Amino acid sequence: MHGMVNIAVRAARKAGEIMIRHLNRLESLEVTEKNRNEYVTEIDRMAEDVIVEVIKDHYPEHAILGEERGQQGEHEFQWIIDPLDGTTNFIHGFPVFSVSIAVMHNDQLEHGVVYDPLRQEIFSASRGQGAQLDGRKIRASRRPSMQHSLIATGFPYRANKQYLDQYLEMLRAIISVSAGIRRPGSAALDLCYVAAGRVDGFWEIGLNIWDIAAGALIIKEAGGRISDFHGGDGYLQSGNVVAGNPKIYAALSKLLAPHTKDL
Ligand code: IPD
Ligand code: CA
Ligand code: CA
Repeated sequence: MHGMVNIAVRAARKAGEIMIRHLNRLESLEVTEKNRNEYVTEIDRMAEDVIVEVIKDHYPEHAILGEERGQQGEHEFQWIIDPLDGTTNFIHGFPVFSVSIAVMHNDQLEHGVVYDPLRQEIFSASRGQGAQLDGRKIRASRRPSMQHSLIATGFPYRANKQYLDQYLEMLRAIISVSAGIRRPGSAALDLCYVAAGRVDGFWEIGLNIWDIAAGALIIKEAGGRISDFHGGDGYLQSGNVVAGNPKIYAALSKLLAPHTKDL
């Protein structure tokens, strides 16, 4: 395992410990919704701080972009962090959330780690080295047809509500031809599930770079495909993502195409 992956794993586990500790408390916490949200925001920040601390201990000169604390420093190596992906789930005690950490070198994704603290699963990849789940090689599924495929997605909400009607058209197109749709609530994990063959495809509009960076590399290294809605690699910038095993990626892209012209 590459040294940076080791560090990312160590950082992700520490962040995960914070989440589990507070998840237990959250359940017994008697507070207003507003206080609850503030409490969780505090956990997001604590998780990011602990990740940054571990990275800085080993790579003090590297740049870091985190969802909570923004950009820190400039360097050819850039770490991209979502300390808690799936905050809405976390607030409700719905057991699907993750930590996502990626390393870019001069705009090229080099390493990706996504950690699921509840299942204690570590998904990881380094460019050209394949993708792993807990150290064992993973591959995207081989399912060839939409008809038998399980597809994950994310609904547009918050800033992306403007896409709701358009998204519902997409959903209608996919529901009617697939075996099922899931909206687990952590985009980073959704991507890893494509990589591990637990779902056959995924799409979402308007994600952020910290949701996607690690999972995108893990998918590619697992033999899956990922792009924006026009087959290009601008998805880290646009946040518009379609992914899958090669056959389902192609089928999904085609089915979504009539609804993605302006995206
Ligand atoms: C969210 C999750 C969710 C996706 C949203 C993201 P957050 O991240 O990844 O699955 O649908 O678009 O914002 O806010 O929980 O870190
Ligand atoms: Ca996120
Ligand atoms: Ca987050």
